[in-house]
Amino acid sequence: MSELIAQKNKPLRLGVNIDHVATIRNARGGGFPDPVRAAKLAEDAGADGITAHLREDRRHISDTDIERLTDQLVVPLNFEMAATNEMLKIALKHKPHAACIVPEKREERTTEGGLDVMKGRNHLKSFIAVLSDAGIRVSLFVEPEPLQLDAAYEIGAPVIELHTGAYCEARQVAREMEHARILNAVKSATDLGLECHAGHGLTYETVASIAAISNISELNIGHFLIGEAIFGGLDSSIKHMRALMDKARAQSDGMRIA
Ligand code: PXP
Repeated sequence: MSELIAQKNKPLRLGVNIDHVATIRNARGGGFPDPVRAAKLAEDAGADGITAHLREDRRHISDTDIERLTDQLVVPLNFEMAATNEMLKIALKHKPHAACIVPEKREERTTEGGLDVMKGRNHLKSFIAVLSDAGIRVSLFVEPEPLQLDAAYEIGAPVIELHTGAYCEARQVAREMEHARILNAVKSATDLGLECHAGHGLTYETVASIAAISNISELNIGHFLIGEAIFGGLDSSIKHMRALMDKARAQSDGMRIA
């Protein structure tokens, strides 16, 4: 029987993704609402980091947003990017604290799946090396799949972010199965010495059982928080999410895996 290292109350960071403030701004083409203002508010509300995805089609975050975030943030910026030369150049220009490499398709509504690290290993390996040499902490966004984690480890990724989308969309038994997949992936990542983050689709309802997995050190959450902000304000949605995460982590028994 193997066990996930059971350590209570390991810190859990909240990265707030502000992409969809920019989505609303871009619906009218002007300057409002300003995603950088949202990022500053998120900092004040207790975000440990800000995440922004500069997509190839610039459908939400713009180049200027990234420049302003780099200048104005106090907390670390996690720059989400596709593995393209264009994005690499931008990352090297701004040198964010972290870069999360994601797959990107023009026709998708959101990042639909994780990277195929096995298939793209040579291409991704060079991106990890160049970004790491520039002092940027690189994570790979992957499905909770042990073979993908092995490949991430082999090509030198220090961090992986597990895609929680399937878990959040599933119901009942299917959700339990997705949760088991995530637990298993966290165990594999921990055994390999990879830092483990998670995100996508998380809500007040789904966050607790992910936050309770003590070897996950960061959750990146966006769409739901920005949506809830319509009803109660961004400060309130972030603080409530933070409280749910902290409560789940405090009650966690370390999530033993047989
Ligand atoms: N993590 C990654 C790698 C993502 O691509 C996204 C979506 O941009 C998120 C986390 C946040 O997902 P959501 O907006 O559904 O909370």
